[in-house]
Amino acid sequence: MKLNNIIPEPVTSDKKSTKSLNKPEKDAKLVVLQPIGYPFLCNLVENPKIEIFDKELFELYAREQWLGYTVEEGSFIFDQKLLPDYAFKIIKAHPDNSKITDSTSILLMEVEEVREIKRIESTLTMEDVIGQERAKDKCKIIMKYLQDPEHFGDWAPRNVLFHGTPGTGKTMLAKSLSNELKVPLFLIKATSLIGEHVGDGARQIHELFEAASITAPSVVFIDEIDAIGLDRKYQSLRGDVSEVVNALLTEMDGINQNKGVVTIGATNNPHLLDFAIRSRFEEEIEFALPDEKERKAIIELYVKSMPLSIGFDTGKLVNPTKGLSGRDIKDRILKVALHKAIHEDEEIITWKHVKYALKQIKDNENEPKGMFA
Ligand SMILES: Nc1ncnc2c1ncn2[C@@H]1O[C@H](COP(=O)(O)OP(=O)(O)OP(=O)(O)O)[C@@H](O)[C@H]1O
Ligand SMILES: [Mg+2]
Repeated sequence: MKLNNIIPEPVTSDKKSTKSLNKPEKDAKLVVLQPIGYPFLCNLVENPKIEIFDKELFELYAREQWLGYTVEEGSFIFDQKLLPDYAFKIIKAHPDNSKITDSTSILLMEVEEVREIKRIESTLTMEDVIGQERAKDKCKIIMKYLQDPEHFGDWAPRNVLFHGTPGTGKTMLAKSLSNELKVPLFLIKATSLIGEHVGDGARQIHELFEAASITAPSVVFIDEIDAIGLDRKYQSLRGDVSEVVNALLTEMDGINQNKGVVTIGATNNPHLLDFAIRSRFEEEIEFALPDEKERKAIIELYVKSMPLSIGFDTGKLVNPTKGLSGRDIKDRILKVALHKAIHEDEEIITWKHVKYALKQIKDNENEPKGMFA
């Protein structure tokens, strides 16, 4: 996304911050800014791209000009010095609606990173994830730790790996955790940490963990971690991958004192992971395909929110969905059956529509896979 394509939300004439009317009591620990650009441009001027070469210097500069300003997530703050009126969006303020002091950490994030780091809006709860009891229990233990770190002494949960068949609920569990946790959760897709230039990846990993440790206790969830934690035999594919792996190792060891930060990694290819990274995970939890009881529960869960009435016995679907994941059941069976019914202008989804969806899957399975099959 180009910066100058972003249309800033309406701003008021109060240049300090768009929503700074309530006087905050709290001091900001962390502020994450996204460069936006000028509120309007004349044809000749382009929005400058901001790049920070010296983070500490930028923090000094930022704190000095915004000392005492109120920061609220989603509002804007304007540069007053080098680029007068250049807007930054406040992506994260911890705590929200707090005041910048001379010990506030101020980070600037690129647009792509910001999209991933934003706290996701989710109404999911852990109970919506059917089965995967071991993973849910681990999440509950992590929640206990985050509420009362002292209770765990030196035995804190640190690094946990979720792995298993695609579509079994790994990302879904992360999203529900983000909703249930009372502490910040940084949900990152590993591919977004790599960056365009050599060196970007390692820097972004350090910044991510820095943000997490400032807001600790907190959770870093790295989805599809095999994209950065690649086994050494694949590392030559990208020159800087070993740098990225090393950055991740450093953070997972907590050398940078990430106290109170729990890292959860998710992958469907644990064997692709660098051995040193894999061995840092104290626990590997497998996400299995749903069994009979779980398939029944998944079908019942999703059928409830379908926009047409159901004209078949949902219990009949439990057997033919054996071997399918939660995602397959939802997207490849229920959704396809629904679309078929809508296409036929029917008010009720009948077994005929379900049979059509089941047949699609069967036909796909029978299709030759790849050119040598
Ligand atoms: N255990 C489950 N309970 C309820 N719904 C599920 C479950 N597993 C999968 N689903 C449904 O399938 C969707 C996709 O699952 P999700 O993205 O969590 O899979 P994943 O394990 O992260 O897969 P991948 O390894 O491909 O990233 C979910 O959003 C949900 O709608
Ligand atoms: Mg996933």
